[in-house]
Amino acid sequence: MNIVILGPPGVGKGTQAVRLAQMGWIHISTGDILRESIEKGDTLGNKVAQYVHRGELVPNHLIVEVLKQKLQEIDCNSNIVLDGFPRNVEQARALEGLIKVDKVLYLKCDDEQIIKRLTARRICPRCGEVYNIITKPPSDNMRCDKCGSSLIQREDDREDVIRKRLEVYHRETAPLVEYYRRNGLLEEIDATGTIDEVFDQIREKIEEWAKRK
Ligand code: AP5
Repeated sequence: MNIVILGPPGVGKGTQAVRLAQMGWIHISTGDILRESIEKGDTLGNKVAQYVHRGELVPNHLIVEVLKQKLQEIDCNSNIVLDGFPRNVEQARALEGLIKVDKVLYLKCDDEQIIKRLTARRICPRCGEVYNIITKPPSDNMRCDKCGSSLIQREDDREDVIRKRLEVYHRETAPLVEYYRRNGLLEEIDATGTIDEVFDQIREKIEEWAKRK
Protein backbone atom coordinates (compact mmCIF):
# COMPACT_ATOMS: atom_id res chain seq x y z
CA MET A 1 0.00 0.00 0.00
CA ASN A 2 1.24 3.51 -0.83
CA ILE A 3 0.00 6.49 1.11
CA VAL A 4 0.59 10.22 0.93
CA ILE A 5 0.53 12.32 4.08
CA LEU A 6 -0.78 15.73 3.12
CA GLY A 7 -1.07 18.80 5.31
CA PRO A 8 0.40 22.17 6.20
CA PRO A 9 4.01 22.64 7.30
CA GLY A 10 4.49 21.53 10.89
CA VAL A 11 1.21 19.64 11.18
CA GLY A 12 3.13 16.48 12.10
CA LYS A 13 3.59 14.72 8.75
CA GLY A 14 7.17 13.70 9.52
CA THR A 15 6.38 12.70 13.10
CA GLN A 16 3.59 10.37 11.98
CA ALA A 17 5.57 8.99 9.01
CA VAL A 18 8.41 8.04 11.36
CA ARG A 19 5.90 6.10 13.49
CA LEU A 20 4.82 4.20 10.36
CA ALA A 21 8.48 3.57 9.48
CA GLN A 22 8.88 1.96 12.92
CA MET A 23 6.19 -0.50 11.76
CA GLY A 24 8.17 -1.32 8.60
CA TRP A 25 6.88 1.26 6.13
CA ILE A 26 9.38 2.96 3.82
CA HIS A 27 9.33 6.67 4.66
CA ILE A 28 10.17 9.08 1.85
CA SER A 29 10.49 12.70 2.95
CA THR A 30 11.43 15.06 0.13
CA GLY A 31 12.25 17.75 2.71
CA ASP A 32 14.75 15.42 4.45
CA ILE A 33 16.38 14.51 1.12
CA LEU A 34 16.79 18.20 0.23
CA ARG A 35 18.18 19.13 3.66
CA GLU A 36 20.72 16.30 3.45
CA SER A 37 21.89 17.57 0.06
CA ILE A 38 22.12 21.14 1.34
CA GLU A 39 24.14 19.95 4.33
CA LYS A 40 26.52 18.02 2.04
CA GLY A 41 26.76 20.95 -0.38
CA ASP A 42 26.25 18.67 -3.39
CA THR A 43 24.92 19.80 -6.79
CA LEU A 44 21.28 19.32 -5.83
CA GLY A 45 21.86 21.04 -2.48
CA ASN A 46 23.38 24.09 -4.14
CA LYS A 47 20.46 24.36 -6.55
CA VAL A 48 17.73 24.12 -3.91
CA ALA A 49 19.17 25.85 -0.82
CA GLN A 50 17.81 29.30 -1.61
CA TYR A 51 14.25 27.98 -2.11
CA VAL A 52 14.24 25.89 1.06
CA HIS A 53 15.68 28.66 3.24
CA ARG A 54 13.14 31.17 1.93
CA GLY A 55 10.23 28.76 2.49
CA GLU A 56 9.41 28.48 -1.22
CA LEU A 57 8.79 25.30 -3.19
CA VAL A 58 11.72 24.05 -5.22
CA PRO A 59 10.94 23.81 -8.97
CA ASN A 60 8.78 20.84 -9.96
CA HIS A 61 11.25 19.36 -12.48
CA LEU A 62 13.96 19.14 -9.78
CA ILE A 63 11.81 17.58 -7.08
CA VAL A 64 10.17 15.09 -9.44
CA GLU A 65 13.65 13.93 -10.46
CA VAL A 66 14.62 13.58 -6.78
CA LEU A 67 11.58 11.40 -6.14
CA LYS A 68 12.17 9.26 -9.25
CA GLN A 69 15.72 8.53 -8.11
CA LYS A 70 14.58 7.68 -4.59
CA LEU A 71 11.92 5.28 -5.90
CA GLN A 72 14.58 3.49 -7.94
CA GLU A 73 16.60 2.86 -4.78
CA ILE A 74 13.83 1.21 -2.78
CA ASP A 75 11.80 -1.96 -2.94
CA CYS A 76 8.58 -0.73 -4.51
CA ASN A 77 6.71 -3.83 -3.27
CA SER A 78 6.96 -2.47 0.28
CA ASN A 79 4.45 -0.15 1.90
CA ILE A 80 5.49 3.41 1.14
CA VAL A 81 4.60 6.60 3.00
CA LEU A 82 5.25 9.84 1.14
CA ASP A 83 5.78 12.89 3.36
CA GLY A 84 6.02 16.29 1.62
CA PHE A 85 5.27 15.09 -1.90
CA PRO A 86 3.19 16.03 -3.85
CA ARG A 87 3.00 19.77 -3.09
CA ASN A 88 0.90 20.89 -6.07
CA VAL A 89 -1.32 19.45 -8.79
CA GLU A 90 1.54 19.16 -11.29
CA GLN A 91 3.49 17.00 -8.82
CA ALA A 92 0.39 14.91 -8.10
CA ARG A 93 0.03 14.18 -11.81
CA ALA A 94 3.73 13.30 -12.08
CA LEU A 95 3.34 10.93 -9.13
CA GLU A 96 0.54 9.08 -10.92
CA GLY A 97 3.08 8.08 -13.56
CA LEU A 98 5.46 6.72 -10.92
CA ILE A 99 3.47 4.76 -8.32
CA LYS A 100 -0.14 3.96 -7.47
CA VAL A 101 -1.39 6.10 -4.59
CA ASP A 102 -3.86 4.07 -2.52
CA LYS A 103 -4.84 6.68 0.07
CA VAL A 104 -4.12 10.27 1.05
CA LEU A 105 -4.19 11.14 4.73
CA TYR A 106 -4.96 14.82 5.16
CA LEU A 107 -3.77 16.06 8.56
CA LYS A 108 -5.85 19.08 9.61
CA CYS A 109 -4.82 21.79 12.05
CA ASP A 110 -5.17 25.59 12.20
CA ASP A 111 -2.38 28.03 11.37
CA GLU A 112 -1.94 29.39 14.92
CA GLN A 113 -1.26 25.91 16.31
CA ILE A 114 1.14 25.28 13.41
CA ILE A 115 3.13 28.40 14.25
CA LYS A 116 3.35 27.31 17.92
CA ARG A 117 4.55 23.82 16.91
CA LEU A 118 7.14 25.05 14.41
CA THR A 119 8.67 27.81 16.50
CA ALA A 120 9.13 25.20 19.27
CA ARG A 121 10.59 22.48 16.99
CA ARG A 122 14.23 21.52 17.48
CA ILE A 123 16.07 18.85 15.52
CA CYS A 124 19.17 16.76 15.97
CA PRO A 125 21.64 17.68 13.19
CA ARG A 126 23.33 14.29 13.45
CA CYS A 127 20.57 11.64 13.59
CA GLY A 128 17.57 13.74 12.50
CA GLU A 129 15.43 13.07 15.59
CA VAL A 130 12.70 15.73 15.92
CA TYR A 131 11.83 17.38 19.26
CA ASN A 132 9.53 20.11 20.46
CA ILE A 133 10.47 22.20 23.45
CA ILE A 134 6.81 22.28 24.56
CA THR A 135 5.25 18.97 23.51
CA LYS A 136 8.26 16.64 23.10
CA PRO A 137 11.28 18.03 24.95
CA PRO A 138 14.56 16.11 25.14
CA SER A 139 15.26 14.67 28.58
CA ASP A 140 18.72 16.29 28.85
CA ASN A 141 18.86 20.06 28.37
CA MET A 142 18.79 20.49 24.55
CA ARG A 143 20.79 17.36 23.74
CA CYS A 144 19.50 14.54 21.58
CA ASP A 145 18.24 11.58 23.62
CA LYS A 146 19.47 9.19 20.93
CA CYS A 147 22.97 10.44 20.06
CA GLY A 148 23.77 13.25 22.51
CA SER A 149 24.32 15.98 19.88
CA SER A 150 23.25 19.58 20.59
CA LEU A 151 19.85 20.30 19.10
CA ILE A 152 19.38 23.07 16.55
CA GLN A 153 16.51 25.02 15.03
CA ARG A 154 15.82 24.56 11.29
CA GLU A 155 16.61 27.71 9.29
CA ASP A 156 13.08 27.75 7.90
CA ASP A 157 11.52 27.58 11.39
CA ARG A 158 11.92 31.34 11.99
CA GLU A 159 8.48 32.92 12.34
CA ASP A 160 8.77 35.04 9.15
CA VAL A 161 9.72 31.97 7.08
CA ILE A 162 6.99 29.86 8.73
CA ARG A 163 4.41 32.47 7.66
CA LYS A 164 5.79 32.37 4.13
CA ARG A 165 5.59 28.54 4.09
CA LEU A 166 1.97 28.71 5.25
CA GLU A 167 1.17 31.23 2.52
CA VAL A 168 2.76 28.90 -0.09
CA TYR A 169 0.86 25.94 1.39
CA HIS A 170 -2.54 27.65 1.14
CA ARG A 171 -1.88 28.84 -2.40
CA GLU A 172 -0.16 25.80 -3.94
CA THR A 173 -0.72 22.70 -1.82
CA ALA A 174 -4.17 23.11 -0.25
CA PRO A 175 -5.89 22.64 -3.67
CA LEU A 176 -4.68 19.02 -3.49
CA VAL A 177 -7.27 18.40 -0.77
CA GLU A 178 -10.09 18.85 -3.32
CA TYR A 179 -8.06 17.08 -6.01
CA TYR A 180 -7.74 13.92 -3.91
CA ARG A 181 -11.27 14.22 -2.51
CA ARG A 182 -12.61 14.15 -6.08
CA ASN A 183 -10.43 11.08 -6.80
CA GLY A 184 -11.98 9.36 -3.75
CA LEU A 185 -8.60 8.92 -2.06
CA LEU A 186 -8.80 11.51 0.72
CA GLU A 187 -9.15 10.63 4.42
CA GLU A 188 -9.26 13.46 6.94
CA ILE A 189 -7.40 13.18 10.22
CA ASP A 190 -7.85 15.60 13.11
CA ALA A 191 -4.23 16.56 13.83
CA THR A 192 -4.95 18.84 16.80
CA GLY A 193 -4.57 16.12 19.44
CA THR A 194 -1.40 14.64 20.89
CA ILE A 195 1.07 12.73 18.71
CA ASP A 196 -0.32 9.42 20.05
CA GLU A 197 -3.94 10.45 19.47
CA VAL A 198 -3.18 11.40 15.86
CA PHE A 199 -1.28 8.16 15.31
CA ASP A 200 -4.19 6.09 16.72
CA GLN A 201 -6.49 7.58 14.07
CA ILE A 202 -3.96 6.79 11.32
CA ARG A 203 -3.47 3.22 12.52
CA GLU A 204 -7.23 2.64 12.68
CA LYS A 205 -7.64 3.88 9.10
CA ILE A 206 -4.84 1.64 7.85
CA GLU A 207 -6.26 -1.40 9.66
CA GLU A 208 -9.69 -0.66 8.16
CA TRP A 209 -8.23 -0.49 4.61
CA ALA A 210 -6.21 -3.65 5.12
CA LYS A 211 -9.41 -5.52 6.14
CA ARG A 212 -11.25 -4.26 3.05
CA LYS A 213 -8.45 -5.28 0.66
P1 AP5 B 1 9.43 19.74 4.48
O1 AP5 B 1 10.54 19.26 5.30
O2 AP5 B 1 8.53 18.78 3.80
O3 AP5 B 1 8.64 20.78 5.36
P2 AP5 B 1 7.10 20.98 5.69
O4 AP5 B 1 6.07 20.39 4.79
O5 AP5 B 1 7.04 22.44 5.82
O6 AP5 B 1 6.88 20.11 6.88
P3 AP5 B 1 7.72 20.10 8.17
O7 AP5 B 1 8.84 19.13 8.07
O8 AP5 B 1 8.09 21.50 8.57
O9 AP5 B 1 6.63 19.65 9.23
P4 AP5 B 1 5.91 18.27 9.52
O10 AP5 B 1 4.50 18.34 9.08
O11 AP5 B 1 6.73 17.11 9.06
O12 AP5 B 1 5.91 18.37 11.10
P5 AP5 B 1 6.78 17.60 12.21
O13 AP5 B 1 6.36 16.18 12.28
O14 AP5 B 1 8.22 17.90 12.08
O15 AP5 B 1 9.96 20.72 3.34
C1 AP5 B 1 10.90 21.74 3.62
C2 AP5 B 1 11.14 22.55 2.35
O16 AP5 B 1 11.67 21.69 1.32
C3 AP5 B 1 9.88 23.17 1.71
O17 AP5 B 1 9.57 24.42 2.29
C4 AP5 B 1 10.35 23.31 0.25
O18 AP5 B 1 11.23 24.38 0.10
C5 AP5 B 1 11.14 22.02 0.03
N1 AP5 B 1 10.33 20.90 -0.44
C6 AP5 B 1 10.10 19.70 0.20
N2 AP5 B 1 9.31 18.92 -0.54
C7 AP5 B 1 9.01 19.62 -1.66
C8 AP5 B 1 8.21 19.36 -2.81
N3 AP5 B 1 7.53 18.20 -2.94
N4 AP5 B 1 8.12 20.31 -3.77
C9 AP5 B 1 8.81 21.47 -3.67
N5 AP5 B 1 9.56 21.80 -2.60
C10 AP5 B 1 9.67 20.88 -1.61
O19 AP5 B 1 6.19 18.34 13.52
C11 AP5 B 1 6.44 19.72 13.75
C12 AP5 B 1 6.67 19.96 15.24
O20 AP5 B 1 5.45 19.70 15.95
C13 AP5 B 1 7.71 19.03 15.89
O21 AP5 B 1 8.38 19.75 16.89
C14 AP5 B 1 6.88 17.89 16.50
O22 AP5 B 1 7.51 17.31 17.63
C15 AP5 B 1 5.61 18.63 16.89
N6 AP5 B 1 4.40 17.81 16.77
C16 AP5 B 1 4.09 16.95 15.78
N7 AP5 B 1 2.87 16.42 15.97
C17 AP5 B 1 2.39 16.98 17.12
C18 AP5 B 1 1.18 16.84 17.84
N8 AP5 B 1 0.20 16.03 17.44
N9 AP5 B 1 1.03 17.58 18.97
C19 AP5 B 1 1.99 18.40 19.40
N10 AP5 B 1 3.19 18.58 18.76
C20 AP5 B 1 3.37 17.87 17.62
